[in-house]
Amino acid sequence: MKSPRKQLEERVSAALVQLLGEAGAAVDPLIRPTQDPRFGDFQSNVAMGLRKQLGGSPREVAARLIAALDVADLCAEPEIAGPGFLNFRILPSFLASQLEQIQGDDRLGAPLAEQPQRVVVDFSSPNLAKEMHVGHIRSTIIGDALARVLEFCGHDVLRLNHVGDWGTPFGMLIQSIRETRPEVLERPDDLRIDDLESFYVDAKRRFDSDPEFAVRARKAVVDLQAGDESALAVWRAFCRESLRHAHEIYERLQVRLTDRGESFYNPVLPGMVEELLQRGLAIESDGAICFFVGNWTNRDGKPLPLMVRKSDGGYNYDTTDLAGVRHRILQEKAVRIIYVTDIRQRQHFDMVFEGARAAGWAGDEVSLEHVGFGMVLGEDRRPFKTRDGGTVKLKALLDEAVTRSREFLEQNAERMAELTDEERTEIAWVVGHAAVKYADLSHNVSSDYIFAWDTMLALEGNTAAYMLYAVARTRSIGRKAGIAFEELPTDLPILVEHESEIGLAKTLLEFPGVVEQVAQQLRPHLLTDYMYALSRAFSTFYDRERGVRVVDVEDEAVRLSRLRLCDLTARTLKTSLSLLGIDCLEKM
Ligand code: ARG
Repeated sequence: MKSPRKQLEERVSAALVQLLGEAGAAVDPLIRPTQDPRFGDFQSNVAMGLRKQLGGSPREVAARLIAALDVADLCAEPEIAGPGFLNFRILPSFLASQLEQIQGDDRLGAPLAEQPQRVVVDFSSPNLAKEMHVGHIRSTIIGDALARVLEFCGHDVLRLNHVGDWGTPFGMLIQSIRETRPEVLERPDDLRIDDLESFYVDAKRRFDSDPEFAVRARKAVVDLQAGDESALAVWRAFCRESLRHAHEIYERLQVRLTDRGESFYNPVLPGMVEELLQRGLAIESDGAICFFVGNWTNRDGKPLPLMVRKSDGGYNYDTTDLAGVRHRILQEKAVRIIYVTDIRQRQHFDMVFEGARAAGWAGDEVSLEHVGFGMVLGEDRRPFKTRDGGTVKLKALLDEAVTRSREFLEQNAERMAELTDEERTEIAWVVGHAAVKYADLSHNVSSDYIFAWDTMLALEGNTAAYMLYAVARTRSIGRKAGIAFEELPTDLPILVEHESEIGLAKTLLEFPGVVEQVAQQLRPHLLTDYMYALSRAFSTFYDRERGVRVVDVEDEAVRLSRLRLCDLTARTLKTSLSLLGIDCLEKM
């Protein structure tokens, strides 16, 4: 279903075509929400720009436009304000008729894409051989939410975990094990993630302090990339164990991902580099192969290329990302490729995207997008760390979320008394994970945000708990009214009269537009902002003073219509939460 704003735009466009002929179709009707509700819901200053074409003052142009407009079912007679602005007030009866049409619709009026696209979302993508830590949370949560929204819109989404399993860290690890723990080489399958973590710390210390070791470690990467069997055996064991660990976390978070790490592209790297050389796109410089794109420079102001082969023969992050983008376009046939990483990788991706265009792999039909996110900060506004300054492990963080949400629940003796132990456990689990996800998604992607348990678990404000509570509350309204929402007929007459009903109806009808915006702009906080606005509109509607009576209203038609509004609110919130990867609870 088209939003009231969209429908209004179409009507104004039609009037413009009447006045200007074909040229009218190209004019933007400039419909915007009004800042002040006294002037109605929408305004347009399109008349200002049409003086030349139509002659007369803008007020005269506005009057001619109104005469040509066919909007009687949609809004009150448009008003001309000031020098020639048009004000539109949507009719409650129009809102009601729109809601009547979507009351039985699982998608709440959100259309499926007319042209479904093949989309790749590259997210989470941790570097292996380390435990997942707080630095991986944003990519995992944001990427999953974006994939869910795009899937909901009907696109064909490939969710790729481009894990770092092919670079220097592996050479470092393999070499360190060869030198200090050769027994591991005998039984690589006994490795556990905790061992990996400690090997990594050891190896990194040696790598940073012993330049000769660093040389041997780099050589080990080249061996690995060239297919050395003994190196490969340890490498495989490392990857298997770290991926097992990562998928334990994904399962908890209900995130689906296809593992396709850097190493996947190894077989095609030599050929790709050769191709770039032959086509004159890459050149040799000091033994390394460089692909110069755009006008990037390094700190010293020297031209900065994509480095596709290092002078020691090794391939790196640039090489695998070029091979990745090429594969996604040419083999996977993706027309939209989205990368979700730390914002500090922006330049890397801009260069890879330019490379893909310069090499002719990405034509105009392919959109390459980087979603760069900000940092997670502690309450001291510094990067989020454990008390002793260590990195926060993701598993520990999620465990803490559940423990804290349980403690939070236990503070409320009244609620506790109504719940069985099993219910308490379930609530703590769901709310704990939901709080972490929601807090992350509700911030503008590119901003840093402060990780603060108390704010994110709070029952009031723009939090997961508040949304879950709002859903649970509508359920209990249903119980009080003695009806099951699922059993209400889907052709109920909807009555929208009271101001609080009008407000709620308008907000409900914004859902399709918000989903479309998130899919386009890749900004999940637009959805959480919307949910917050919807839950507030609902609170006003259900408020004894500012709103209307629902359960105990006498007129049965009015009662059913209001119950339907409760139900639509719950379904819209629930669907929105599911788009963010958040489960709902029947009871809170
Ligand atoms: N492994 C990288 C990191 O931890 C992120 C990979 C993102 N995806 C990509 N295609 N480069 O920073």
